[in-house]
Amino acid sequence: MSMESQTEEIKSRLDIVDFIGQYITLKKAGINHKGICPFHNEKTPSFMVNKERQIYKCFGCGEGGDIFSFVMKMEGLDFLDALKMLAERAGVQLKARDPQLARQQSQNKAHLLNLNRAVADLYHQLILRHRAGEHARQYIARRKINQKTVINFKIGYAPKGVNHVRDYLRKMGFSQTDLNRVGNPENFRDRLMFPITDTLDNVVGFSGRALQEGQEPKYLNTRETPVFYKSKILYGLFLAKNSIRKEDRVVVVEGQMDVVSSHQAGIENVVATSGTALTHEHLLVLRRHTNNIIFAFDNDEAGFKATVKAVEMAWSLGMQVGVVGFPTNLKDAGEAVEQDAQAWGKMVKDAMPAFDWLWRKLSATGVSSTANKRKIAQTIVPLVAQVVDAVERDDYKRRLARNLGVTERALEESIAKINAKGEEPFKPAGSKQKKVSIWLKLLALMHLLPEQIGEVQTVLKGKIASGKVADVYENVFKWYNKPKSERSKDFLGELPPNLAQEVVILATVIEGDGADADVLKKDLKAYLEKISSNIKDKIKADFAEKIAQAEREGSIEKMKKLLKELEENK
Ligand code: UTP
Ligand code: MN
Repeated sequence: MSMESQTEEIKSRLDIVDFIGQYITLKKAGINHKGICPFHNEKTPSFMVNKERQIYKCFGCGEGGDIFSFVMKMEGLDFLDALKMLAERAGVQLKARDPQLARQQSQNKAHLLNLNRAVADLYHQLILRHRAGEHARQYIARRKINQKTVINFKIGYAPKGVNHVRDYLRKMGFSQTDLNRVGNPENFRDRLMFPITDTLDNVVGFSGRALQEGQEPKYLNTRETPVFYKSKILYGLFLAKNSIRKEDRVVVVEGQMDVVSSHQAGIENVVATSGTALTHEHLLVLRRHTNNIIFAFDNDEAGFKATVKAVEMAWSLGMQVGVVGFPTNLKDAGEAVEQDAQAWGKMVKDAMPAFDWLWRKLSATGVSSTANKRKIAQTIVPLVAQVVDAVERDDYKRRLARNLGVTERALEESIAKINAKGEEPFKPAGSKQKKVSIWLKLLALMHLLPEQIGEVQTVLKGKIASGKVADVYENVFKWYNKPKSERSKDFLGELPPNLAQEVVILATVIEGDGADADVLKKDLKAYLEKISSNIKDKIKADFAEKIAQAEREGSIEKMKKLLKELEENK
């Protein structure tokens, strides 16, 4: 299907009056519908929507177009993202990798990236040599940030008044629409600016720190835009990349200041998330550079919670995880550097294995009471259950049992229960829920690497518990086993349409990450390992239940038989 016919198909399925009616109130007026224009400030309605021709037009500000231009303008999306959003609404299955679409998208993106770059350059010049940047210069001096670091990170100053900024950008050929689409940099006023770059050093967004007492919020961040996907961007990664590879490990901290100070102190393998919690996608990005990760989040309750979550995610990806243990008098990495740059280096070097850190933190209030034991187990057991490598997981389990003074059996059972519960099949990638089902991710990788389907089949065939997931995979295997001449081009046609669309979208996202086939193969292998180990856990849990049942019935023969079977199944 060409791009034209895809957009036509979507338009034919959605009604522009209903659609715009979700954003503003529309009233019938003759052959049109009428409302207050969402694109300019007005009191009497001059915004018209025509149902017959499926277009809108504002007679006040002149904006007009079809459902696509409306959603692009309203949501600040580029064409591809608008297409994705509307296709989902319309239930239209998008064709992946349309070359024309890809070209148009990349042109749009380049324009937005140029704009961000121009803004960053301007702010940077202001802090380097303009009078307006004087109190920002004083601030960074107070924070012991030197000029070399300012240049390295292109730190800047966003002035109070934005007229000059606007004029300058106009002269450079950028429109107000362009500004809106990158999240409107004019929102930053009188702030210390940290440009956020992607792995290619494109400026994708900004984080601006308040410079005055009482200026809220303390850090203002660019919202998500077509060039700024917060769940994937890590602050400082471009500058940290080489060091991460050389050291073969990465340190993840909470904020811009932590990254910048650490760099200045000579510890360069440091990155931070940008105004969001760490995500699975962040970790996938980091795992391309190293399998060893150290968390050094803030030394407070929120930081503790974030670390627990992060350890769980990193363990589930098979990473080696460490945590920096801050002394109680230090609030975060930035402060550690400010007080003693060398000591910070030592703290990173002495990072504790995550398991030891967790144990130390959780057992601090005592382990003797049953209530405390339960509380500790409740936090740590679900994490241990995520560890991919069986030997490593067993080791943690044994140590935990010993430390808590409980049987390994008891822990094994709770671990098995957690893993057996599994995930909901095929949680969609586009939904608000953070976790995308591993089954869906595996399908997306199979779509991108069809030559690996045989491997997937070898590992999984006949082992997936019957249900929706098993049906889907059996269909794919059936398709794969047909002679090439008899089967359709790809397996998407064998899936329920909604699922096929999810697979395509997720595959497009993964492709957009720019990972090469080797990295994708590694991911696929990790997913297969995780699924196999979940299946084994499920078998164990089922046995445990049956054995308990036999125990209750007092049937020793049955118990023996089950235990023997379990042994054989290992
Ligand atoms: P912190 O409040 O810990 O800041 O927020 P910090 O790194 O210690 O900074 P300084 O030393 O006071 O200057 C950590 C990170 O959380 C995000 C920012 O990315 C910040 O770097 N954050 C914080 C926000 O997005 N918004 C806020 O209002 C505060
Ligand atoms: Mn902090």
